[in-house]
Amino acid sequence: MKIVVIGGNGLVGRNIVRRLQAKGHDVSAASRGSGVDIITGKGLRQALAGAEVVVDVTNSPVRDGPAPYEFFKKGGENLLEAEAAEGVSHHVSLSVVGTGRLDDSPYFRGKAAQEELIRKSGIPYTILHATQFFEFLLEIVELSVYKQSLRLSPAYIQPIASADVAASLAELAVRPAKNAIVEIAGPERQRLSEIIQRFLTEIEAPYEVVTDILAPYYGTTLDDDSLLPGEGARICCTDFQTWIGQSEYWGAGW
Ligand SMILES: NC(=O)c1ccc[n+]([C@@H]2O[C@H](COP(=O)([O-])OP(=O)(O)OC[C@H]3O[C@@H](n4cnc5c(N)ncnc54)[C@H](OP(=O)(O)O)[C@@H]3O)[C@@H](O)[C@H]2O)c1
Repeated sequence: MKIVVIGGNGLVGRNIVRRLQAKGHDVSAASRGSGVDIITGKGLRQALAGAEVVVDVTNSPVRDGPAPYEFFKKGGENLLEAEAAEGVSHHVSLSVVGTGRLDDSPYFRGKAAQEELIRKSGIPYTILHATQFFEFLLEIVELSVYKQSLRLSPAYIQPIASADVAASLAELAVRPAKNAIVEIAGPERQRLSEIIQRFLTEIEAPYEVVTDILAPYYGTTLDDDSLLPGEGARICCTDFQTWIGQSEYWGAGW
């Protein structure tokens, strides 16, 4: 099967490319690094020529302010238009659990706009909603730290290893389109403030976590269950302790 992974050199993308190649599919990775830009449209039609399936795992290079909304909307429009022109028969997209209920956040509003474009495109699709990646905990720390402390919401999260998300996307890409959203989450439910404290302890980072229900999260505030998956979510696989033991942080110190 000819499959193009847009964002194929990113964290999730390169893992998907590797898995699909190992199964013998004709896979290519596309992104600005290989001359394909979903914002300007440069190289898109050529990259998609002959593709049956497109997996979109791009991410906005700028995460705060209005940029993510513009990225997902404009990028979604260009990508889906090019897919329609090239006759792509399955669009697979990675989105985030909580999309559709956190519209104060430009990031989540952008993901909601991207999903709406997909539903209206007429192209058969599958959208995977994943919870926060373990790999993303460091970004939360970097965005929240002020002097030696972090103000964090006590909302529940159920984080997952990005490799488990990539495995799920690689499976979905070669199955018939579901024309629906499916959800995936990690095995443990914990408060955001608690898992970040656990992460900081593991990496021996000298920061103190202060719990605050009004702490901002990507431009919005969170309720207890804003970031939790629904009832039918697939629960998978690697837990925090296993992940960190295999990660680049293990034994590295701060
Ligand atoms: N982080 C989380 O916890 C989490 C949870 C659930 C879902 N997700 C979703 O997972 C997706 C992928 O995340 P990730 O962490 O794998 O992202 P990442 O590592 O930041 O990779 C982003 C990819 O997008 C490409 N890209 C950026 N701008 C582009 C453009 N204008 N045109 C073409 N390609 C472009 C980048 O390559 P170039 O720089 O070469 O262009 C790169 O391949 C995102 O959509 C995110 O919403 C993330």
